Amino acid sequence: MRGLQNKVAIVTGGGGRIGSATATRLAEEGARVVVADLIAEAGERTAKAIGANAIAIPFDGNDPDSVANLIHATVEHWGRLDILHNNAALTDLKFLDRDQDVVSTPMEVWDQTMIGNARSYFLTAKHAVPEMLKVGGGAIINTASGAALVAENARISYGSSKGAVVTLTKYIATHHGRQGIRCNAISPGLIVNDALAAEISEFLAVSNRQLITPRPGKPDDIAALVAFLASEDAEFINGQNICCDGGILAHSPAMADVLDMAESEWGK
Ligand SMILES: NC(=O)c1ccc[n+]([C@@H]2O[C@H](COP(=O)([O-])OP(=O)(O)OC[C@H]3O[C@@H](n4cnc5c(N)ncnc54)[C@H](O)[C@@H]3O)[C@@H](O)[C@H]2O)c1
Repeated sequence: MRGLQNKVAIVTGGGGRIGSATATRLAEEGARVVVADLIAEAGERTAKAIGANAIAIPFDGNDPDSVANLIHATVEHWGRLDILHNNAALTDLKFLDRDQDVVSTPMEVWDQTMIGNARSYFLTAKHAVPEMLKVGGGAIINTASGAALVAENARISYGSSKGAVVTLTKYIATHHGRQGIRCNAISPGLIVNDALAAEISEFLAVSNRQLITPRPGKPDDIAALVAFLASEDAEFINGQNICCDGGILAHSPAMADVLDMAESEWGK
């Protein structure tokens, strides 16, 4: 992809499934990467696997001072900032299990989710944009979710926080686009590595029925889209939310059932 050579990128949540794939892909494309994660060892693991073009900086996206330090330390180390992949989020299944419907979800779950998933992206962008403007512009890629676009059976706080991410993306693009900042969002569908696939195998089987791409999503699918959106090849794409979900939101909600019916009724 064009224009990623020697660019400096921060990947938040870079110790996790999607973040580690993105950090690795951006480095493969020639960027210098900061792997930023709440869990220091996870970030260091990713940075070590990438090698000389990556460093790990532990940070907490919920803490304004920690975010300011992340941006400052990045510029101090690599000399500039061009790309921010806002990818960290509260993904602990034990926490998400308390996020149900509007009546039963505790307020603290709503508040923590909004802080962790939406306010944290506002904060990182707040500190990153001024640094990007110093080098003539940059690219911010925010990770939203399919759960921002359609309601699921639970997780009202998570879905709402990701909806805020989609809107935040448009505002940043609108306010700073003419200054050279592009800000786009990605809405992944279900993305699994082997470990997560084993953990949620029953749910995965249900979800796979709805895919029109015949395999589950993987972290490299998102990493490839992040690299594209960060690159000069995506120069004319700004303020968008792009689904990377195997087509799960492209069709009628009844698609899987209708296909099953067609097979049993008409496919004999
Ligand atoms: N995996 C999916 O199916 C899927 C689907 C849609 C959207 N997403 C989104 O993609 C992103 C990455 O998901 P993933 O599956 O790789 O999750 P993951 O749990 O593997 O990674 C998330 C990372 O974020 C870090 N993190 C959490 N809170 C943080 C904080 N306050 N400060 C700094 N780092 C913090 C965690 O330590 C972890 O390493 C998230 O924004 C998630 O909401 C994932």
